[in-house]
Amino acid sequence: MCGIVGYIGTDHAKEKVIDGLRRLEYRGYDSAGIAIPDGRKIRIVKAVGELKNLEAKASDPTFDAPVAIGHTRWATHGKPTELNAHPHGNMDNSIAIVHNGIIENYQELREWLTVEYGVKFKSETDSEVIAHLIGLYYDGDLLSAVNKAVADMRGAYAVAAMAAREPDKIVAVRKDTPLVVGHGSGFNMIASDVPALLKYTRDVYFIENNETVVLTKDSVVIFDEKGNEVERDIQAVEWKADAADKADYDHFMLKEIHEQPRVIQDTLFNRLNPDDSIKLDDISMTKEDIDNFNKIYIIACGTAYHAGLVGKMVIEKMTKIPVEIDVASEFRYRETFIDDRTLFIAISQSGETLDTLAALRDAKERGARILSVVNAVGSSIARESHDVFYTLAGPEVAVASTKAYTTQLICMYLIGLYMGSTKGTVGREYYEFILNELKELPDKVGRILLSEEKYKKLAERYHFNDHVFFIGRGLDSGVSYEGSLKLKEISYIHSFAIAAGELKHGTIALMDADSLVIALATQDRLYEKMVSNIVEIQARGAHIIGVAKEGRTEIEKTSDEVIYIPNCADEVAPVLAVIPLQIFAYYVALERGCNIDKPKNLAKSVTVE
Ligand code: M6R
Repeated sequence: MCGIVGYIGTDHAKEKVIDGLRRLEYRGYDSAGIAIPDGRKIRIVKAVGELKNLEAKASDPTFDAPVAIGHTRWATHGKPTELNAHPHGNMDNSIAIVHNGIIENYQELREWLTVEYGVKFKSETDSEVIAHLIGLYYDGDLLSAVNKAVADMRGAYAVAAMAAREPDKIVAVRKDTPLVVGHGSGFNMIASDVPALLKYTRDVYFIENNETVVLTKDSVVIFDEKGNEVERDIQAVEWKADAADKADYDHFMLKEIHEQPRVIQDTLFNRLNPDDSIKLDDISMTKEDIDNFNKIYIIACGTAYHAGLVGKMVIEKMTKIPVEIDVASEFRYRETFIDDRTLFIAISQSGETLDTLAALRDAKERGARILSVVNAVGSSIARESHDVFYTLAGPEVAVASTKAYTTQLICMYLIGLYMGSTKGTVGREYYEFILNELKELPDKVGRILLSEEKYKKLAERYHFNDHVFFIGRGLDSGVSYEGSLKLKEISYIHSFAIAAGELKHGTIALMDADSLVIALATQDRLYEKMVSNIVEIQARGAHIIGVAKEGRTEIEKTSDEVIYIPNCADEVAPVLAVIPLQIFAYYVALERGCNIDKPKNLAKSVTVE
């Protein structure tokens, strides 16, 4: 999705805005631009393609000022051309805006502006109407013009605007699209996401829906929908300034895979008291609340949904409460049975996924208690939930989610254990057993990472396969979906995941000597059944890579290759089993020359339906 960065301070805004945009590259973009006030008008420079093209075009040292707004565009309305790139100006470029989101009534507004005011549009975008609307209402007060323009707009937007006559301010507004202000000494910034700010400040204000904010170099003033000034505390973001850097890795994805032992450790131990009880001080769920729940919905998208697949089985087992899981885009449009005895768990790395957010709002309105599992601090999903369980994964930059997934799994175990032990459905012995298993995970993940070379060799051998199947039973079936998504999204190989027991009901018809099957067999209880499934596939000539726990060597007889994970309880095996699949996907994509961190057609944060 698009990225917005604005800076207002005492000098060199261009450099800071372009640097901020670079930190938002993970959101995906096809063009970029920057606007700087220059006397009676605003100078706008844009370029198609990578940010280095914009940098080259904007390299003139006279093109700089203490204030600038910039944008990376991910094309929706109109092709990725220079004209369609943001910032957009009004007719005489006395106003410039950058926009993230969609203006649903843009055609109507475009026609009105054209017919009534003779506005000549330069681009095909929905966003350009915003610049003309502000231009129309502008009489020397940018805040008032932005407010009037917003009243005409329908849709989702984060907008930052500048006026040539008021070069000492940036005005920004948001509805259903994220916006965060970074506050520093003698400067302020605005951005779509925190990583854009980290090099300069870690003090942030999260802007809420329908709020407008006015930034000058020394002040940040936030207004609510009715124009009342809002008191907002600064929040200190704990992410380190270099957290969104690639360090010595070739790709963010590989770096993030390698961060997993540490972030699992952080997520787990941050929630444990010295006596090993689970610490949920900031979560207000009481025993009475827990006893009152008679159903749980887990709602998410993509990888977060796959974490929910595991979460469903774990939480059901631990709490004995029925758990339903659905992808947010489906959940919103079906009959659901939500009331004040429902716990609604939303899982999201970005905390901004529109489908998940909309499902959450719907469930909240119908009385559900909302607990979200979120990585991005202060994101919309976090702010709109009753309680938030943060994954402490740090910024995840690669589009393909890795460390967010494993930390989401850790949260699923902790939620299950907490609710189960409070409710009395998890006894002391089982609690201690699972907790000890969880504590061993950082080490065990580290051990798996030591075998990276082996997974790389497998990738070299199998990267040419056009169809790959992932199968598993029980918790392994959840991991199969995640392994398959990782492979397809970054290598563009057609991959397909299915519960192993379902194979013989249709999908086995596809198995032949050209198929590669990754068979997960980490669940002791289901191991023999899994081996039987593998035998059936082997009989059709498919190549098989088995994934099993150390010591379960029977699988070698039926598999071409076996990946072993350290011994562990079945419950926590998903955290280990997914690691080799992530690395395999990474090296397959590398072999195939794919753009690993920014796969085609994908964006990191999906803020449209
Ligand atoms: O930010 P979220 O966790 O809500 O995002 C959900 C999905 O869009 C995301 O997991 C997506 O599937 C990733 N590309 C998977 O690697």
